[in-house]
Amino acid sequence: MKTKLGPQRILFPLPTVLVVTGTMENANIATIAWISILSGKPPTLGISVGTKGFTGEQILKNKEFSVNIATAEIMKETDFCGITSGRDIDKFEKTGLVKMPASEIQAPIIQQCPINLECKLIESKIVGTTNHFVGEILETHIDTDKIKDANNWGSIDMKDFNPLVYISGAKEYRVLGNKIGDAYKIGNDLK
Ligand SMILES: Cc1cc2nc3c(=O)[nH]c(=O)nc-3n(C[C@H](O)[C@H](O)[C@H](O)COP(=O)(O)O)c2cc1C
Repeated sequence: MKTKLGPQRILFPLPTVLVVTGTMENANIATIAWISILSGKPPTLGISVGTKGFTGEQILKNKEFSVNIATAEIMKETDFCGITSGRDIDKFEKTGLVKMPASEIQAPIIQQCPINLECKLIESKIVGTTNHFVGEILETHIDTDKIKDANNWGSIDMKDFNPLVYISGAKEYRVLGNKIGDAYKIGNDLK
């Protein structure tokens, strides 16, 4: 038996990222869970950002942003960036998160996040109360001690990362469990 819930936006788990806008001198951070990779060539990602927030305004103005993967180690800082606005405070100063210059865009990246994606805005579309921004990924940074072969990012070992997972509805943060199989392979067992 199934129970109908009506049109809900249930999808989990969701990644938790910190989107940075602005410049090295004047940067802001917002927590975003509505994010997805959209294409491989060119590499693009999409984020859904509320039309009333400061971040959406900044992206439309500067046409760029960085996406920084949040980890369990910075859970409090990440949550803080999702419940405060850059219109009122300097979130870098309040959280102690550290800015580093990006190479292709003016918006900085966050030192404490192990992976950082520099994005250029290539499309935007308002749907209801959110703006869907498509960013082309121009550069990727990873903590040097976490990459064995820079020509093969698939060689990274997930045990070196502790990405912060967001569960909407219950509004919880969680961490990843153990590896249980090899993708694009385990399904062969049913062939
Ligand atoms: C776990 C979490 C996930 C969030 N995901 C999103 C999201 O995907 N899109 C969005 O617009 N706001 C999201 N928010 C809310 C924004 O981070 C929040 O509105 C923030 O205050 C915006 O900051 P700003 O005004 O400095 O841009 C999320 C907040 C939390 C705590």
